Amino acid sequence: MPGVFISFEGIDGAGKSTHIEALAQALRGQGRSVTLTREPGGTPLAEKLRTLVLNEPMDAMTEALLVFAARRDHLQQLIEPALARGDVVLCDRFTDATYAYQGGGRGFDEQVLHVLEGWVQALPDSPTLRQPDLTVWFDLDPAIAAQRLAGARVPDKFEAQPVDFFRRVAAGYAQRRTQDPQRFARIDAAQSREAVWQDVLVAVRQRGWLA
Ligand code: TYD
Repeated sequence: MPGVFISFEGIDGAGKSTHIEALAQALRGQGRSVTLTREPGGTPLAEKLRTLVLNEPMDAMTEALLVFAARRDHLQQLIEPALARGDVVLCDRFTDATYAYQGGGRGFDEQVLHVLEGWVQALPDSPTLRQPDLTVWFDLDPAIAAQRLAGARVPDKFEAQPVDFFRRVAAGYAQRRTQDPQRFARIDAAQSREAVWQDVLVAVRQRGWLA
């Protein structure tokens, strides 16, 4: 079976984590081999970069360069080998998060992100870039997400941002979706957890990756 690459996106507090774990179980239950990973992170080096990006103050370009450096290592060491083995790779965030957070949230130049994406996600002997086959986007009103996050745990650098920041992040995701609508499954994350899970299942079943 060919490998499948699925990313999960949404603003902080949109509630994607439990569904990623549940989808991994569902796929494994049908005999698929699953690689569960996240960005920034997924390899020892990329996890070190994650700690820096999430905790140290830095300008938006430094942030963008670090998340793409982490992504490069992650693709080479983990994602590409897993896809070559025929795994389903479930990745908690990928490049759409960079467009949404560094581009939308922080206002960093999208043309530069586009160049970095082109370098980091280039495939050998192919004009196309490595991109997820499906992106499950948990879309939630930033005001609701802020309520969910309040008091949940000690916030990291991004979680501590004001709701206006997350409005720009959400707009960044919406814009990415209009640029590649086929790749995206938008899920209304304001629904009950069970209804959200059913929508996740529908998105994956529609593509024939789950019975
Ligand atoms: P998140 O995925 O929410 O993990 P956790 O559930 O452990 O908090 O945290 C990752 C944070 O990193 C999130 O706030 C978004 C941010 N981020 C970027 O700013 N740019 C990126 O390219 C990526 C992948 C994440």
